[in-house]
Parts: sequence; structure tokens; C-alpha cells
Amino acid sequence: MGATGRQGGAVARRLLDGGWRVRALTRSPASPAAQALAVAGAEVVQADMGDRASLDGALAGVHGVYSVQNPVISGIEAEVQQGRNVAEAARRAHVQHVVYGSAGTGAADTGVGSWDSKLEIEAHMRALDLPLTVLRPMAFMELMTDKAFYPPLSTWHVMPKLLGGETLVPWTAVEDLAAVAATAFAERERFVGRDLPLAADLRSIDECREIHRDVIGHGPRRFPMPVWMFERVAGEDLTTMWRWWRSAKPETDTRTLREIRPDALTVRQWLERRKAASPQRR
Ligand SMILES: NC(=O)c1ccc[n+]([C@@H]2O[C@H](COP(=O)([O-])OP(=O)(O)OC[C@H]3O[C@@H](n4cnc5c(N)ncnc54)[C@H](OP(=O)(O)O)[C@@H]3O)[C@@H](O)[C@H]2O)c1
Repeated sequence: MGATGRQGGAVARRLLDGGWRVRALTRSPASPAAQALAVAGAEVVQADMGDRASLDGALAGVHGVYSVQNPVISGIEAEVQQGRNVAEAARRAHVQHVVYGSAGTGAADTGVGSWDSKLEIEAHMRALDLPLTVLRPMAFMELMTDKAFYPPLSTWHVMPKLLGGETLVPWTAVEDLAAVAATAFAERERFVGRDLPLAADLRSIDECREIHRDVIGHGPRRFPMPVWMFERVAGEDLTTMWRWWRSAKPETDTRTLREIRPDALTVRQWLERRKAASPQRR
């Protein structure tokens, strides 16, 4: 699922590299991202996670499913419906393993809509008795660099304002999440039934800023905006999340991810990679 997107795309590529046959689902098989997957060796199939019948056809004969939805694109209600649809289609297709791209702490008392939605989807998958592995990343390192996340406004301005510049953030690069997913598919017996909180590096925004300065040669650009205006543009999910994180101070560590993937990227390594990939961006 989500094969033309961030998580699904990284998982698809990782699985292809590992020799799996990959069926990549997309609403738009002619899109450049879908075409790139076809060139990489995936079987691209049209399906819409909002349309259960399209999923039934697309999942016929598969061994496993990587399930991920995006509430930012679809809205939270539709995210839950899509997650339920995927779960039901996976049950019907008798898949041997579902790896779910979840988020948050796994606790039900946070009040964060895009975390609660995932608990609802997980509950449905468990009620269907699916052979399930839950991946629980917190913050993608891509938040610091990818334009789609508006880092100058979001990560470097509103986030530290609400979270506190010194509060530790559990970071994971999407490619490391994908590597964990691929390991889970490859070692089904070891991973079915597990709920994996993922963090490769614990760094505050202040520390990340220092690392950015060191690696890139200057601090990250900031785009100041009042929080109320940010909420008008981006909604209240992220601001609720960051406020909750600051007050609840949940315990996090890097053990689970590093046990599965000892060489997962640190924030410094992530930024060094990005610099090497586009040295002109200074
Ligand atoms: N950002 C973070 O730091 C962070 C951290 C932890 C967890 N998360 C979670 O990550 C998830 C988002 O993952 P992502 O960034 O990989 O998403 P993404 O890049 O936006 O990809 C989502 C994909 O889903 C597909 N899609 C959307 N609506 C669809 C529908 N109705 N039917 C079928 N496919 C549909 C789209 O493919 P097509 O257009 O080709 O159909 C799109 O490529 C969210 O649930 C978020 O809560 C994010």
C-alpha cells in the first residue's frame, strides 16, 4: 500500500532489492512514481484503499501486505476506513503477514487524532486475527529536510516552540523503517505479534540545529508564524501532538530499532547523506 509514497515506496524498493516479487498498489498507475516502480521491477496494480472491491482483486495471491495510510491526504475518518478495508481484504486473501506502518506511543490517552486512528485500525486487525507486526515510528528524519513537510515553518519553528527546543525527539529515517519492514517479512516467525517502537537517534531540535550547522555549514532556515495561523493552515493534529509530547515526556529509546538494524542512520549521518546527495543546497 502507499507504494508511490514515502513509506510504501521505500518498503517496495527494499523488498525488490531483497529479491521479493512486489505488487505495488496505486490509484494512478500512469503517474511517474508508479512508472518508476514498474521500471524497478514491481507489478503495478490500480487500487484505491477507499474501495474495498479494488483491494480484494489486488490482494489475491499475495503472501504479505505492507499497510499504510495518510490522514494528511485523506482525513482521519477516511484513514480509519482505508485501514479497515486493507485489513478486511488481507483477511479475505488469507495473507500470511501484515506489517502495519503505525505511529505514536501505542497508548490510548494522548488525544492525538492521527495516533488514535491507528489504534482503531490496529484493534480491527487484531479482531480479524491477522498475523500482524506493528511498526511505530515517531518522527521521520525527512521532517528536517523534505519540502513536502515545510521544515522551515514546521520542524524548525512551530515544533520547538510547542515541544521545547531541548526535548528529545525519537528520529527514524524512512529507509530504516523500510529495512525493518523487510526484515520482518523475511523473518515472519520472529516478528508476527510484535509491536515495535522505532527510533534510531534521540536528539532535541536544538541539537539537530547544531548538527545541521556543523554538517551543512549554516543553521536550518526558519519561517516564523504564530501557532494559531499554523493551525489554520495545517490543522491541530501536529500541535496537539507536540504539546502532548512536551507535557507527557514519554520514555523512548533506540534499542528496538538498533537491535534489528544496528547501522540505522543517526541525525548527523542523515544530514551528511542529504548534503552529499545535493551538495549545491547550502
Ligand atoms: N511524518 C512523520 O514524521 C511520521 C512519523 C510516523 C508516522 N507517520 C505516518 O506515516 C503515514 C504516512 O506515510 P507516508 O508519508 O509514507 O505517506 P505518503 O507518502 O503520503 O503516501 C501515501 C500514499 O498512499 C496512497 N493513497 C492515498 N490515498 C489513497 C487511497 N484512497 N487509496 C489508495 N492509495 C492511497 C498514495 O498513492 P497514490 O496516489 O499513488 O494512490 C500515496 O502515495 C501517516 O499515517 C503518518 O501518521 C508519519
